[in-house]
Amino acid sequence: MLNERQLLRAQRRSAQGNAPTAESCILVIFGASGDLTKRLLMPALYNLACDGLLPERFAIVGIALDEMTTDQFRAKMSEDIKKFSTRNEFNQEVWDQFVLKLHYTSGNFGDPAAYQRLAQVVNGLDTELQVGGNIIFYMATPPSIFGMISGHLDGAGFKSREKGWIRIIVEKPFGHDLQSAIELNKQLLTHWREEQLYRIDHYLGKETVQNLLSFRFSNGIFEPLWNNKYIDHIQFSVAETVGVEGRGKYYDTSGVLRDMIQNHMFQMLAYLCMEPPGSFKSDAIRNEKSKLLDAVRVYSTEEVQKHTVRGQYSAGKKPDGSPTVGYRQEPDVNPESRTETYAALELFIDNWRWAGVPIYLRSGKALWKRGTEIVVQFKKAPEVIFRDTPIEDLSANVLLFHIQPDQGIEIRFQAKTPGPILNLQPVNMRFNYNDTFDVSRATGYEVLLFNCMIGDATLFSRTDLVETAWRVAQPMLDHWAATPMDDSTSYPAGSWGPKAAFDLINDSGRHWKEVINRDILSHIPLFKSADPICLHNMAMSLTPEVFKAGEEVVSHGEVGDEMFFICRGQVEIIDKAGKQLAVLGEGEYFGEMSLLTSQPRTATVRAITPCNLFVLDKDSFNRVAHDHPKFRTAIAQLAQERAGQ
Ligand code: BG6
Repeated sequence: MLNERQLLRAQRRSAQGNAPTAESCILVIFGASGDLTKRLLMPALYNLACDGLLPERFAIVGIALDEMTTDQFRAKMSEDIKKFSTRNEFNQEVWDQFVLKLHYTSGNFGDPAAYQRLAQVVNGLDTELQVGGNIIFYMATPPSIFGMISGHLDGAGFKSREKGWIRIIVEKPFGHDLQSAIELNKQLLTHWREEQLYRIDHYLGKETVQNLLSFRFSNGIFEPLWNNKYIDHIQFSVAETVGVEGRGKYYDTSGVLRDMIQNHMFQMLAYLCMEPPGSFKSDAIRNEKSKLLDAVRVYSTEEVQKHTVRGQYSAGKKPDGSPTVGYRQEPDVNPESRTETYAALELFIDNWRWAGVPIYLRSGKALWKRGTEIVVQFKKAPEVIFRDTPIEDLSANVLLFHIQPDQGIEIRFQAKTPGPILNLQPVNMRFNYNDTFDVSRATGYEVLLFNCMIGDATLFSRTDLVETAWRVAQPMLDHWAATPMDDSTSYPAGSWGPKAAFDLINDSGRHWKEVINRDILSHIPLFKSADPICLHNMAMSLTPEVFKAGEEVVSHGEVGDEMFFICRGQVEIIDKAGKQLAVLGEGEYFGEMSLLTSQPRTATVRAITPCNLFVLDKDSFNRVAHDHPKFRTAIAQLAQERAGQ
């Protein structure tokens, strides 16, 4: 019998023994002089080389229109890698070996002669390196020419080769709508078999996205709770601070539903909500994903109207505070464009596990922060047993997946505050990737390329998955195309998005969970010198609310149940007679007086511009004020000054 240490060693050995190795092959990149190659593919391949994960017999052949020799291509890549490498330290020795594997041939993708030249280069390398005829064709080109390239490859004899395998990597977008996706799939399947196709969705290359499956199915405590009995709702948020960044031409024909939601976000949705697969084999996982997406309710026009919101950014601010133009003023964007740069959806999965659980998705460009998060909101514990205690209401547990840029998993729950009186406070436990794993940043393409080299298609989309995802998106695309964009759903660049997106979730009594960290709070002067515990408690207690220009935030005479911190926008304070007393802007706060005195509000506060506010409710205010006397004193002082004015 093995002792514990021997057992551990044996397990480690067998884990290493089971690790697959990449098969010898030649990787042909169509569009090798483009952005994708220099920014992501080369850095990813170089990372694989650094980690010893490339096959020993291996070569890369770039093909593009640009006239270049192999030497020039190598020199160009050697320059570019310095800019785009993600390694903590650049290993020149590895690069010098790696660069020798690069080859180049120029050609027009519509010219049969280019494929004859390509065949010569590939066959020569195959013979020289003995890769056994294995080829990966990477289509880093517009999808409209996938079919043409496939046809020419056939014409140049690649399909009729007798030895080795051929795999095709295809970049998104996989169609523009359901019909075009079906056609694109048909074209690809005319030339290749399904198992040869590797459709890339770079979100599946992210460690934190892959970890969704590992987390769910390797930890026994969550699966029993993963259903409509215990989960109230789920939120997926992908916020970007960037606008369209010179991609106006593409983006204006796309929009966020096509660009982010129908692909990347639906992939995450499928991972989070699918049934457990019978194994971690590629098709076992993809079958479950497909079944899940198939169960997402396909909306009628009325349902699209009720359950979805879209918006477009107007002029506003960049994260550094400098002004920025609205979407319609971006280069290559139609000045009357109706393309959505923001969307929020409320979806339902009509199966046994998820019946009745709303699933919220939102994504947008030019927002106030960059962050991808998934929030699993559990149902509340019964409050009734706390009757006759100071506890009036309980908050529900939350499981939070921080996908990027923070990477981690967090669970939020309530704990008794120290002291003789029974009171509760929201607290959290958090796992951060950075604290646990010491790895270089990756591009996300490493794992995708590696998996293609070992023939594992788990992380790639299958024909049925692509089409099912379009089936869900199609009624939204149709309805949005047929109806003018309501200007009221525009949102200033640098804000939290359109108010309508907040109404969408608030209408059901829920609210978006904004992940607030210390960085965000440090923009509010009151918190600049606050101690870390106070900041942490604040971050756990604040909820976001959005107001339109002209809307009343609080009214004179009402009893104050909360105070407000201005994150974006301006408000005016108005007395009973309607006279403006003051204008408050970003970083300032209001509503504290009524909380301190428990008296009705002495003024009305109205939004002058669209406003994004953090709300601190009375219970949390009392708790923070009690535990952090400095906070209470600062607030009381300002309240006094305001009262004296
Ligand atoms: C791409 C979209 O697929 O994903 C871009 O075309 C978007 O518009 C990008 O910015 C987001 O990817 P990431 O990895 O930065 O979240």
